[in-house]
Amino acid sequence: MASVKQMTDPLLVGAAIRAQLKHEIPQDLPLERDCREGTSYTITDHVHALHKSLCKEPRTLQLITALVSHLHAFARDTSLTHAEWAKVVEFLTRAGKESTDYKNEFVLLSDILGLSALVDELTHPKPLGCTDSCEEGPFYQPDAPEVPSGSSLAKIGTIGEVMFFNGVIKNTKGEGVKGAKVDVWQADGDGIYDVQYPGREEANDRGKIIAETDGTFCYRGILPTAYPIPSDGPGGDLLRLLGRHPHRAAHIHFMLKAPGYDDLTTALYPSHSPFLGTDPVFATKKSLICQIVEEHDPKRWKDMGFKDSEVKTGRVWVWKYQFVLPSVEEVQQFKRTQQVTPKL
Ligand SMILES: [Fe+2]
Repeated sequence: MASVKQMTDPLLVGAAIRAQLKHEIPQDLPLERDCREGTSYTITDHVHALHKSLCKEPRTLQLITALVSHLHAFARDTSLTHAEWAKVVEFLTRAGKESTDYKNEFVLLSDILGLSALVDELTHPKPLGCTDSCEEGPFYQPDAPEVPSGSSLAKIGTIGEVMFFNGVIKNTKGEGVKGAKVDVWQADGDGIYDVQYPGREEANDRGKIIAETDGTFCYRGILPTAYPIPSDGPGGDLLRLLGRHPHRAAHIHFMLKAPGYDDLTTALYPSHSPFLGTDPVFATKKSLICQIVEEHDPKRWKDMGFKDSEVKTGRVWVWKYQFVLPSVEEVQQFKRTQQVTPKL
């Protein structure tokens, strides 16, 4: 009878793990502790302990620790069920599958939940009295043509009513900002951006305006109208579930850059637009809403650079706004006063 040999050093892990262990040996965790909910040592503590003992990148550790804390608190606060969580996972999976190069459902979800607007506010805090920022959105094109102040940004035949935009860029001392470039982009009178038209060959309703040395600039264009964000996917389903709509108020996007000053990306909204208070992406701020007026005098239209034949509705919309830019130093100083010590 063959003798039974006592097994020594039994194989505990497969080849893939053995290969990994050669490079990195996880530290032991206090597994003898009770991880069950209801004791002083919770699943949340266990996750945090694992990450704290292994993660070597402090900012990653800070972010993931806060994320796990909030996610676990969400599950506890709502007594989240298996079935509900499965629905969430199914929804996120669909968001991934339905995202394309032209429509990112995760960006839409971030926008719809107000997270994109919040991150923008945290990233670009503005000292009191300076123009608020808001998100760039998906239609910015870095290669817009550079044009002098006073140019027309709308090609002949662009849909919509004509508008004259008259801006001035000042610093916090009330002085005109020198050397500013103003990137402008907007939808037309049908709420459509040039890049959304199939077969687009050249820029329309957009341009990089060289402001005058006293900070003033103007352009002739088209009064923008409201338009919807994409709502044919999971993001749209969520809006409907919440009783919300996908329509953004009319607006013009601006990106201002001037030497020595903090860059500003923002948008302005005419006060007559619908949907100002129910923006699906929470980018509309009270300080960015403008009263615009109608100009009926043909002599004034001529002063603005319009030919009578271009003004088909008997009026030109006149939009004025004063932008206030903080200097780079003012923003750094402001950020220092707002700094919060990261919790690790
Ligand atoms: Fe937009």
